[in-house]
Amino acid sequence: MITARLQAIMNLIDTKTIADIGTDHAYIPIKLAMENKISKAIACDKNEGPIEIAKANVKKYGIDKIIDLRCGDGLSAIKEGEVQTIIIAGMGGNLIGDIIENDINKAKGSKLILQPMNAQYELRKRLESMGFKIIKEELAKEGFKIYNIFAAVEGTQMRKKNEEEYHIPTELLNHQLIDMLVAKKQREFNKIYEGIKNSHRKSDEDLNILKYCEYMLSQINKIESTYRKK
Ligand SMILES: C[S@@+](CC[C@H](N)C(=O)[O-])C[C@H]1O[C@@H](n2cnc3c(N)ncnc32)[C@H](O)[C@@H]1O
Repeated sequence: MITARLQAIMNLIDTKTIADIGTDHAYIPIKLAMENKISKAIACDKNEGPIEIAKANVKKYGIDKIIDLRCGDGLSAIKEGEVQTIIIAGMGGNLIGDIIENDINKAKGSKLILQPMNAQYELRKRLESMGFKIIKEELAKEGFKIYNIFAAVEGTQMRKKNEEEYHIPTELLNHQLIDMLVAKKQREFNKIYEGIKNSHRKSDEDLNILKYCEYMLSQINKIESTYRKK
């Protein structure tokens, strides 16, 4: 089933060859192949179970010439330069970062479409330090949940970003879902802030985190007032 999150990922694909890492039931490659949007997809998962289910679907729809199902950890199942775009979606941001770092040359040979379920800040920072630049930021909403999706390619960020931009990218300030992202970030920082504030003993590290939360909450309030004025 193609959800708003999966659709937003698909909307960022502008090449004919793709790999979907952690493909699960291969929903994205199957949908793109059925719509004649791609000529080749490598759908990879580290577990045999999802691959077997995907195999049955690929056969049923007669798209086995387009979709190549492979079992493997991270990017191990693909060769360098084999596809123009690599999708890594629906996993934690730290795992996505590890998958990229473990096979950095393969990752640098393709455009990356990433959809981390958490640790978006950490992944943005890590991509930059690994020699990638983020070229597109997108949001998708399903019920009360908001998802970040970003596209990255090898390169250097032209402009040095402020700390808050790794949480709320400037590019998203005109997005129709920006309210939801800002509210989510405020909730996250408030939760950490209140947790530490209400604890009896505070280590030096806790005090630093408190300061960081205070700073980020004030920056987020400024961001909010800027886009509300527009
Ligand atoms: C929650 S599902 C996400 C499926 C799909 N990509 C999506 O966004 O809906 C995560 C999938 O990633 C696979 N996976 C987890 N770690 C992986 C790794 N290191 N390499 C390849 N696949 C992995 C799991 O087996 C699972 O099928």
